[in-house]
Amino acid sequence: MKKWTLNSWRNYPVKHIPEYENRKELNMVLDKIRNFPPLVFAGETRTLKNQLADVADGKAFLLQGGDCAESFAEFHPDNIRDTFKVILQMSLVMTYSASMPVVKVGRIAGQFSKPRSSPTEVKNGQELPSYLGDNINGIEFSAKLRKPDAKRLFKAYSQSASTLNLLRALSQGGFADLNKVHLWNLGFLKKSPEGKKFKELEDKIADALSFMDACGINSDFNRRLKTVSCFTSHEALLLPFEEAMTRVDSTTGKYHDTSAHFVWIGDRTRQPNGGHVEFCRGIENPIGIKCGPTLKTEELIKLCNILNPKNEKGRITLISRFGHDNVEKFLPKLIRSIKKEGLNVVWSCDPMHGNTIKSATGFKTRPFNNVVKEVKKVFAVHKAEGSYAGGLHIEMTGKNVTECTGGAQKISEKDLSHRYHTHCDPRLNASQALELAFLISDEIKKNSQYSKNIIQAVS
Ligand code: PEP
Ligand code: CO
Repeated sequence: MKKWTLNSWRNYPVKHIPEYENRKELNMVLDKIRNFPPLVFAGETRTLKNQLADVADGKAFLLQGGDCAESFAEFHPDNIRDTFKVILQMSLVMTYSASMPVVKVGRIAGQFSKPRSSPTEVKNGQELPSYLGDNINGIEFSAKLRKPDAKRLFKAYSQSASTLNLLRALSQGGFADLNKVHLWNLGFLKKSPEGKKFKELEDKIADALSFMDACGINSDFNRRLKTVSCFTSHEALLLPFEEAMTRVDSTTGKYHDTSAHFVWIGDRTRQPNGGHVEFCRGIENPIGIKCGPTLKTEELIKLCNILNPKNEKGRITLISRFGHDNVEKFLPKLIRSIKKEGLNVVWSCDPMHGNTIKSATGFKTRPFNNVVKEVKKVFAVHKAEGSYAGGLHIEMTGKNVTECTGGAQKISEKDLSHRYHTHCDPRLNASQALELAFLISDEIKKNSQYSKNIIQAVS
């Protein structure tokens, strides 16, 4: 292996990184970012890696969720709070079913850049560069705004810093106290079937807490009952920015990408000899690898060996995203090859990116049923292969948007135009996200019992 340096990725072919006309301005912005504070700290990243090692061992479950693409337009404290509320609600449903900790990771505070299937977009006969994410260019269909603009990078950095500041306050400042579970249910959800189901769960938790209180265990004495850890993540796509955010941890002398706790390599940029893999090889963060239908088993093994030569637990999360009708075709052989090589990984399931279709009304959408089907099939395949389905990776929001069809609200293709706000892919709304958590809670329960049996049999 050649020596890794902060910018050795520049010697490798890279895809989906834009060319900036004004290189001087780009370098000035990157220099400024290089001298700004880290967004996350190395110690936090290590904590997440340890928690992911527990997931790899079948002792915890990973929930990763948030926007497909964060945007400047949707930046509002209420949106951050509501996304956080849904993550807390989903994780409570899962913890309650599985009786195991749920590791919470947001696609948030930095999830801006997008790889696109086509480099250009044509509208009314005019062809312009595609929208690449708010930190690169504008979504408006104008030649001027579609040009990559380096100033956007700094705006995205600042938005990420404010978002993280609020997330830290919400996680640590009392909002996440189990005695405040009733505050997590969103107003528009309260009358829905999921809202009512969640209310039943609230009552059960209140009973358990008052029993524990009578035994002398309460949130005044136990921080764990009143705070949560919420980590951040995004796709490590725009490498010049990731490079500027990568710093040496003074306690270990190792490099950490301080733009997020967890970064992943997308399905389009995971070439073993490409720049994205080269960059991620040298940072200490936990790394996700999206696994789509074109991934060959030999390639996957190669990727794991390049990115995790010491086979460290918690370092690699494999995020399968095949589509509901392709899971049985592709997932078993990947699981078998990972088992055969004895590689330590977390297996997570992204039931969004393989289930995108175009509606008759012209919107990109995802039928909720297909999302649920993919998750259920992934659980079934892991069980059949004797491996542990350890996580769920979803695109969701706390808002009452109409982007994915179906669910208890029965969103139809016609309804999509009502509140279609996403800047990229369609997200589950709060009701659909909570419904998904309830619908898979049985699977999660069986899954955790099965993993506990395996742990017992081994020890
Ligand atoms: C994403 O997670 O937004 C994404 C683009 O996914 P994938 O790389 O799996 O297509
Ligand atoms: Co997406």
